[in-house]
This record gives sequence, C-alpha cells and structure tokens, in this order.
Amino acid sequence: MKRDLISMRDVKDDLCDIIGLGISLKQKSKKKKSIEFLKGKTLGMIFEKSSTRTRVSFEVGMTLLGGHAIFLSTNDIQLGRGESMEDTALVLSRYVDLIMYRAKSNQAMQELAKHATVPVISGLDDKEHPCQVITDLMTITEHKGKLKGLNFVYFGDGNNNMAHSYLLGCGIAGMNVKIVAPKKYQPDSYYVEEAKKFCVSVEVTDSVENAAVDADVIATDTWVSMGDEAQKEQRLKEFKGYTIDQKTMKQAKPDAVFLHCLPAYYGYEVTKDVAHGKQSVIFDEAENRLWAQIAIMVTLCK
Ligand code: CP
Ligand code: NVA
Repeated sequence: MKRDLISMRDVKDDLCDIIGLGISLKQKSKKKKSIEFLKGKTLGMIFEKSSTRTRVSFEVGMTLLGGHAIFLSTNDIQLGRGESMEDTALVLSRYVDLIMYRAKSNQAMQELAKHATVPVISGLDDKEHPCQVITDLMTITEHKGKLKGLNFVYFGDGNNNMAHSYLLGCGIAGMNVKIVAPKKYQPDSYYVEEAKKFCVSVEVTDSVENAAVDADVIATDTWVSMGDEAQKEQRLKEFKGYTIDQKTMKQAKPDAVFLHCLPAYYGYEVTKDVAHGKQSVIFDEAENRLWAQIAIMVTLCK
C-alpha cells in the first residue's frame, strides 16, 4: 500500500519518528557521511503556484538522497491544457517513484492522491501545508529539546493552510495552541475540533491584548496567501493590529522563539527587527525544509 502525506493527519502516528530521522540525517550529512537512501529514485514535482523553498529544498534533498527530481510547472505540462488529473496521475506513476504537488486546491490534491499509484506529498494547497509544519516542529525540537507542553501562539490569518496544519500538528505533538486572528479569518471549525481530539488546550481568539503572554513559540504567516491577491487591500486593513513586534515578543517567555514559513512581508504580519532579531529562527526553519523532507521521502519510500 502506498502512503501519502497530504494532511498532518497522515503523520499522526509517527510525527516524532520523522522529526527524529530529520535531525539525525541532518547531523549525518553535515559530517559528510552519505545519506543516499533513495539511490536511483525519481521525484516528480508539480507546481501550480510559485515557490522558492519548496522547489529548491525538494530538489536538493533528492540529490543528497542519491536520487533525482524533475520540476513540472502546470504552465508547461498537459495538465495545464486540460489533460485529466486521473490520467496525469496514472502516467506519472509509471515514470517516477514519488510525486510532490503544490496545488491550488485541496480537491485537486485529493484527486491526484486518489489516482497516483506512488506516494503523493503535498507541497501546500489551500487547506494545509504539512511539510512546512513538520519542519517547524523539527525546528522547535532543535531549539527547545521537546514539543510536549509548550505554548504555541500564532497571529494573523487563522483560516489559511499554515494555521490549519499548525492546529493539527501542534495537537498531535501535545502542545497548547492559541490562534489569534480577526473573527472573519478564524480557522475552519473542522481543524479546531480535530486538534481538540488530541487533548491539548486549543484556543481561538480575536483579542491581541496580552495574547503572547507565556508563549514558548510565536508564529505568523503572510496576511495574503497565494490565491488571495484580489482581496489584498481589504485584508491589509482587516489585519491591522495583528503585527508581531517587539512589544509582542516581550510578553512571551524570555527564551521564546519566533517562526515564519516565509516569504515574509515586513511591516505587515511581523516587523523586520523581530524577524531578523535574536529570538527568530526563521532561517533555521527554511534550512530544515531540506532535512524534514529528506526524512519524509525516506519514510514514504519504505
Ligand atoms: N514556505 C514555503 O513553502 O516557501 P515557498 O513558497 O518559497 O516554497
Ligand atoms: N499561506 C502561504 C504560505 C506560503 C508558503 C500561502 O499559501 O501563500
């Protein structure tokens, strides 16, 4: 049976193992030891949206694993001209060993996963961004030595892919999650209810006042995700007041870390002095996309 990773739910039983594998393969590779566990394997990467980190980290990751990655933009492949997702999935499955897909919609992601006979990994869709959240949990583990019991506070767009995957991921990891978002931009209730099943404290609020008190981790994401561009002006107005600045960081624990999946828009969701400040781990986080995804690919190919 092939195994996909299109939601954080897909790693509910082995999230910690994947994070541990990511950390150990990172150390091994940095000591110049070979990690060529996928020699001769090929990853097909379908992109329906732009990317810097996802594209480069998957491609470099596959090289380090001894395999090869192929970049497929939907502007160039027949899927973009109307070939069905079913046929695309069945054809690609005859050539490649793994498919990574950055999709406009979760529906398209589900359709690809349904028909592909090789593992499908989400490189983000409109509902979730699991590879990023596994990476973020790996980065927190490196900096804090644990996940269980930590207080995680996310500010900004609570209804996007990052907020949804954080709810599930922090829930699975046994963290206390707080989402601070304007009423109109709060998470889909499905993700809140799922997170609650993992018996951690889950809070959703629109009140920014003292919202970061006692936080171990503070995170945010762009207020205008890919696909939301038409609402940009309106969103920038409606998110006013949700910027993470030094005042927000001062409320948190002195050793709190700041996370952002990037790309960041300074002066909006976070100030540049916080994002490039001493509590920020955003560039470790960007690097860890490489190591977390190496662990994910090795796990799915088992
Ligand atoms: N964080 C992230 O997924 O970045 P890219 O859009 O550059 O891939
Ligand atoms: N929420 C953002 C994440 C980018 C990596 C988006 O979907 O554009």
